[in-house]
Amino acid sequence: MNIFSEKLIVWYAGNKRELPWRDTTDPYIIWISEIILQQTRVVQGYDYFLRFIHRFPNVTALAEASEDEVMKCWQGLGYYSRARNLHAAAKSMNGVFPTTYEGVRALKGVGDYTAAAICSFAYGMPYAVVDGNVYRVLSRYFGIDTSVDSTEGKKLFAALADEMMDKSQPAVYNQAIMDFGAI
Ligand code: ADE
Repeated sequence: MNIFSEKLIVWYAGNKRELPWRDTTDPYIIWISEIILQQTRVVQGYDYFLRFIHRFPNVTALAEASEDEVMKCWQGLGYYSRARNLHAAAKSMNGVFPTTYEGVRALKGVGDYTAAAICSFAYGMPYAVVDGNVYRVLSRYFGIDTSVDSTEGKKLFAALADEMMDKSQPAVYNQAIMDFGAI
């Protein structure tokens, strides 16, 4: 393990936020939380998350719901295409959440970040998450001022995030770097 990930993981052990989607490896639950948290802060998304998984506890329940019911549960969260994509993706699964990175990445509304989050948290796969929080941590720690809006910057940060990841504990490493960046 490198000193960077070691420090992060030690910090996380003492400072992690207790969040309901962290007590599970159920990819469905993690997927719902990550879609809610794409454009919504933890404090705002928290109750919506609990209500949503209570109302739709698994892929089949969500797939069988009407669009109206799903949208009603999302009412007030904004960015409503997220809810429509969730519903469409659930219907495409035939009751089984995909178990490969490619399968997860192919879901409607799931990009590189969300696929890495789901696969590392649910399946322990070594995909490093790269989002705004991760950019912040890496650029400051390593003193990099390359813009993340450039293709070069995106590549550089993705490669660095991957290199720094503790491959023996991808879930913990990803949560740690996200939390450190966030708080
Ligand atoms: N923001 C996005 N994903 C998150 C997660 N899993 N935990 C906390 N904040 C997040």
